[in-house]
Amino acid sequence: MTYIVTESCIKCKFMDCVEVCPVDCFYEGENFLVINPDECIDCGVCEPECPAEAILPDTEDGLDEFLELNTRLSAVWPNITVKGESPADAEDWKGKEGKRAELSENPGPGS
Ligand code: SF4
Ligand code: F3S
Repeated sequence: MTYIVTESCIKCKFMDCVEVCPVDCFYEGENFLVINPDECIDCGVCEPECPAEAILPDTEDGLDEFLELNTRLSAVWPNITVKGESPADAEDWKGKEGKRAELSENPGPGS
């Protein structure tokens, strides 16, 4: 198994998660982060750190699409290990449903 970043992260991108990962396996997009499933050691430390509750174990139902996104995008996005500035309207998007269409596949600025 692995932990993955899911829909709740989109447009929130709080980045508290990146500071605690012992193997630095988060990768940054324009408005979303992903975990590299091959690098994640399943420690679970990041899960409670996310204010949007976006980090879940891939053993939960219905996460196939996000497992694919974490796998595919972590191969092309830059690594991130230091928390940056969240979007100005991050709190407005927290807990919103139906954010999948908002996900940008553009890479983030890097760490
Ligand atoms: Fe990193 Fe652990 Fe979270 Fe995996 S579960 S992304 S190793 S903090
Ligand atoms: Fe996203 Fe939560 Fe990390 S909103 S950037 S998974 S702290």
